Amino acid sequence: MRRYVIAGNWKMNKTPAATRAFIGELAPMVAGKDGCDIVLCVPFVDIAVAAEAAKGTNIKIGAQNVHFKESGAYTGEVAADMLLEAGAEYVIVGHSERRQYFGETDETVNLRTKAALAAGLKIILCLGELLEARQAGITEEIVSMQTKLDLAGIPEEDLQNIIIAYEPVWAIGTGLTATPEQADEACGIIRSVVAGLYSQAAADAITIQYGGSMNEKNAAELLAKENVDGGLIGGASLVAEKFTAIALAAN
Ligand code: 13P
Repeated sequence: MRRYVIAGNWKMNKTPAATRAFIGELAPMVAGKDGCDIVLCVPFVDIAVAAEAAKGTNIKIGAQNVHFKESGAYTGEVAADMLLEAGAEYVIVGHSERRQYFGETDETVNLRTKAALAAGLKIILCLGELLEARQAGITEEIVSMQTKLDLAGIPEEDLQNIIIAYEPVWAIGTGLTATPEQADEACGIIRSVVAGLYSQAAADAITIQYGGSMNEKNAAELLAKENVDGGLIGGASLVAEKFTAIALAAN
């Protein structure tokens, strides 16, 4: 059985004080809801506060990016061991906003994933097609290519520490959600690529999330699909009641 993972991606939202208050509010609402893993991926400066506030709860903390070098002259970047020591257990890699605005490529996504794995972090690896790709009918080609390039050189045993998040770029922050069928189809394509690269057992075991305008209203339908094993949630993860409703849908 695959583990459901409901993860919030706060993006560039909430200060340390707001983080502490949010987790104080969320923790009692999701207490005992252990049918899924619950993760909050917060801005770098919120990680330590979030980890402290989440201690003793079922909420896990993640970062939103990681550099691929262990240390050095990389102004503004953060290394994997820094994230771990601050209290992060997870890290998002390859989010479309990083790809779109900050020059992230499949090559750097692959390097970041390897660095995070080596440090012992769990990775939420994001990929997904642009609107033009979907309209051109090449969604399958694009997500297959991204899956292959992003996982290049990563051994099968490391897949237990990788979650793939299928996030069609046209659905992010737009209120335009993929239909459950579209989400299921794309997650299924990714799963079959994993089967081809590794094994059917690896494909059956890997958690594949859907992300893109998932909210408290559409989550149950999306999560009911065979190939959708959780969600990566932006806007709705900023409101404790909404995020809780999604976690409950996964339970
Ligand atoms: P929204 O849920 O705000 O569309 O964001 C999705 C996302 O990008 C999560 O990583």
